[in-house]
Amino acid sequence: MAKRSLICTTMGHVDHGKSSILDKIRGSAIVKGEAGAITQAIGASIIPLHIIEKVCGPLLKSLNMDFTIPGLLFIDTPGHAAFTNLRKRGGNLADIAILVINIKEGIKPQTLESIEILRNYKTPFIIAANKLDLLAGWQSKETPLLQTIQSQQENVQQELDNLLYTIVGKLSELGLESERFDRIQDYTKQIAIVPTSAHTGEGIPELLMVIAGLAQKFLEKCLDCNVEGNAKGTVLEVKDVKGLGKCMDVIIYDGTLKKNDTIVIGSLTEPVVTKVRGLFEPAALNEMMDKKSKFKPVPEAVAATGVRINATNVENVVAGMPIMSSSPDKVEETKEQLIKEVDEVVIETEGVGIVIKADTLGSLEAMINLLREKEVPIKRATIGNLTKKDIADAEANYENDPLQSIVLGFNVEDETGICKDNVKVITNKVIYKVIEDFEKWQEVTRKKLEAAQIDHLTRPAKIEIMKGYVFRQSNPAVCGVDVLEGTIKIGTPLMKKDGKTLTEVKAMQKEQENIDKAQRNEQVAVSMEGVTIGRQLNEGDILYSSIPEEDFIKFKEFKRFLTKEEIEILKEIAEIKRKDNPVWGV
Ligand code: GTP
Ligand code: MG
Repeated sequence: MAKRSLICTTMGHVDHGKSSILDKIRGSAIVKGEAGAITQAIGASIIPLHIIEKVCGPLLKSLNMDFTIPGLLFIDTPGHAAFTNLRKRGGNLADIAILVINIKEGIKPQTLESIEILRNYKTPFIIAANKLDLLAGWQSKETPLLQTIQSQQENVQQELDNLLYTIVGKLSELGLESERFDRIQDYTKQIAIVPTSAHTGEGIPELLMVIAGLAQKFLEKCLDCNVEGNAKGTVLEVKDVKGLGKCMDVIIYDGTLKKNDTIVIGSLTEPVVTKVRGLFEPAALNEMMDKKSKFKPVPEAVAATGVRINATNVENVVAGMPIMSSSPDKVEETKEQLIKEVDEVVIETEGVGIVIKADTLGSLEAMINLLREKEVPIKRATIGNLTKKDIADAEANYENDPLQSIVLGFNVEDETGICKDNVKVITNKVIYKVIEDFEKWQEVTRKKLEAAQIDHLTRPAKIEIMKGYVFRQSNPAVCGVDVLEGTIKIGTPLMKKDGKTLTEVKAMQKEQENIDKAQRNEQVAVSMEGVTIGRQLNEGDILYSSIPEEDFIKFKEFKRFLTKEEIEILKEIAEIKRKDNPVWGV
């Protein structure tokens, strides 16, 4: 059975050179035509084996492999956005991947995110340590990479090794073994790192050699990498094309799609059933989504390829959805399969957890995986912009767990415009930012909640009855006090150094205004019931807040909310209490 081209994606941090590497591989100059050198859409191009062989020259022979891969289908993914829609059932749409790392910058947040996604999907990958030409003192040469490296000055070679081993070290912390490609002993255990320059082309043949080797190894195990049978694919984009109307750009990863075939496409509601009206393919070595490229009508598209499908009734199809061709009598079965596939990702429960939204099935799945790794419970995970129901569902958590009263959105808009007093919304176009902001919000909110927990406790306080400020001796006693340390509130029980609780703060005034709390360095008038100044209390007496034992225990837990001085007073209070009861607050 004929085997298909293998699908390879580039992944990595924004601007590290993903598009440039593919561009160099293709030998065309798409990057130059792109606004701000940022990839706006996901493109694909097929590099047949004979071109790989040509670029690699004798290098490929050094691998001692029989190459049976027909070629590689490269998909470029923008580092800033929705690259995560590249999924297929149970895994990554890509068979293998190139993780691009700017050698001088090393591993960055989106590099980590890419690694997480590759790991989750168990996708084999290699690393391009790119922008080699930017090393200080680097002399570009046309010789094979290893020879070029050896011809560099000692300190340049040293610097290269340092940078490479910084990457190796970081990966090892993540539990991944890696090594420079020529020093690899076991390709199945170690991730190969190839130094590259997308500008000079150095390392590109070596990169292709290693990726072809990985592809060949993968192919030998890949049972469903076939080109016959019904087509299976993933929708990359739905758009209006002049003269054609609605079209879907689709990567077909399995089987063959023909003109007039019945196709079924997953959706959030009922799968869409329609017919292939026209099929268009870009020529090899041509960027599929480059507006300038010519699309030619074709009778069939054989996996793996990127193809444009013209069909009716696809207005509601969204990127990332699965698509399958079906014989007309099997449509119901195919629909069932696709419903199941979408249901496997979308989460809707009555249980507890946060609410998440994403723009595509793939990005939703990636987000679910990343959150699950952090053991964040999810109540609802659906596709599309935020709705009132999303907000309401999150808000329903507020009473039980305010930390879960949140909606996270990746690449979606919040157009609900409704009041969100008790619910937080975080949206971003970068997954790791969503998750990072979410973690920060939880941290801050947790602190606030904890601070609120100690709010109602009797706080440590030490006050002095000021001399010459007795306004009334009893019923109630009213006098001026100096708050030496801590905080007193209305209701704060007061004791003397002997540990006897005499009274509590009944009311307080400062400059004739009623107040409900007074802090360190404040002088206020306090009224107290049940005591007489001159009998139980005297001018110049020191009083402490008489903290209940359970409050003291709470404070031990929330010590971080007390000042150093408050902690000292707390200790004094505990000493007083322990004169009567040695195990008080222990
Ligand atoms: P996004 O798609 O935006 O995530 O970026 P990308 O990873 O595809 O990076 P891109 O290929 O657009 O390159 C970003 C910038 O780095 C461009 O200005 C490139 O010219 C430059 N660049 C890429 N590779 C190299 C390289 O090997 N050497 C040097 N000096 N510059 C490079
Ligand atoms: Mg790019």
